[in-house]
Amino acid sequence: MPSFNHDVIIVGAGAAGLFCAITAAKRGLSVVVLDHAEKVGKKILISGGGRCNFTNLHSGPHHFISNNPHFCKSALTQYPPSEFIALVKKHGIHYHEKKLGQLFCDEKSQAIVDLLLLECHRSGVSIMLNESVSKIRHAGRFELTTAKNMYLSQTMVIATGGLSIPKMGATDLGYRVAKQFGHTLIPPEPALVPLLWRPAEKSLFSEISGVSAEIEVSCLNVRFRENFLFTHKGLSGPAILQISSYWNTQEAITINLLPDKSIETEINKRKSDAVLLSAFFNNFFPKSLAQALAKKLEIQKTLPHLSKAEIQQISDSIHRWKLSPAGTEGFDKAEVTKGGVNTDELSSKTMESKKQKGLYFIGEVVDVTGHLGGHNFQWAWSSGFAAGNHL
Ligand code: FDA
Repeated sequence: MPSFNHDVIIVGAGAAGLFCAITAAKRGLSVVVLDHAEKVGKKILISGGGRCNFTNLHSGPHHFISNNPHFCKSALTQYPPSEFIALVKKHGIHYHEKKLGQLFCDEKSQAIVDLLLLECHRSGVSIMLNESVSKIRHAGRFELTTAKNMYLSQTMVIATGGLSIPKMGATDLGYRVAKQFGHTLIPPEPALVPLLWRPAEKSLFSEISGVSAEIEVSCLNVRFRENFLFTHKGLSGPAILQISSYWNTQEAITINLLPDKSIETEINKRKSDAVLLSAFFNNFFPKSLAQALAKKLEIQKTLPHLSKAEIQQISDSIHRWKLSPAGTEGFDKAEVTKGGVNTDELSSKTMESKKQKGLYFIGEVVDVTGHLGGHNFQWAWSSGFAAGNHL
């Protein structure tokens, strides 16, 4: 079996792996990136609806979820969004801010993959695709065996991402390697993922799939104000994806369907109008949602006939709708995986393992999960840079 010697082996040719490779190769190290896929950066290609939300102007530690909320700080300081934006500009890629600091390519996500490939090429990174890793061991150096080749190095970087979207090539290899070298995992779970109805809500709301509205949603003292979307199976849209990363099965999420108004004040303003509740709701919500909400409330009265208790009931269900989802749509539909390699066992400055010298973990495989809006790619660039600059 042919064997190849490099200073650094990086497993995973996604955002983090490629960026780490570029950073390390620019320092003069010989770097090989291995991936079992037939092409690099598949998730970059499908990201941001095909226009890659490659970073966020405001990306900071408060946009990340981790057992150790401080862990991401050093890498984000070493390589902040402004650095990646400068690189994007240098490559002549046009972009725009969609909202809330989210930067998207004007054209296709392929531009970001091309940027990474060009930088890899210029700095002399070798990329080996269709490489299925069968064994990794450390005996004075790292030895990685694939179906075709053997790769040897003093340093190995694991950048195999999380478990979301298995059909795009996600595997648990990174977690297995972590365990092999004595690491513990924060249990990986789907995040930025649509939530599922329980049967009672399904019968009321599944028929209005496609309807969306701006809401405020909260869970465990975390709050997001964004759009949400009714689907056949449950709820989706940015607000729901964001809160899904905080939700657990023991908790309910609370939805304020009308964050800018008080429904009680609105009812009182029109207390003398002989209008049915469902028709009154039409003033605030799309018609099908207005009808479904009125049906859920089971109040078939006109405004003047509403009792104080009924107005309270209406207010609670509009402003404090407590929803206990049946679950999530799982890894098949999750944008990211929360949990992963325990950050207590990694250096936050370099991403090096505290268990095995020369072993590094970067990107989504680590227990650092960004909010929606470009933060996950920023973590890939920042953690990739931190490792690439120190290994
Ligand atoms: P990533 O998953 O990108 O790369 C891992 C690599 O490892 C892959 O190339 C894979 O083939 C390889 N690999 C896995 N197992 C292997 C094995 N056993 N052997 C060899 N290779 C293996 N984020 C954001 O900031 N803005 C956005 O717009 C979006 N949009 C978006 C849309 C969709 C549909 C998804 C699923 C995700 C996003 N994300 C996103 C999240 C973002 O894509 C994600 O956080 C980063 O790609 C993570 O980068 P990594 O390099 O860590 O993993």
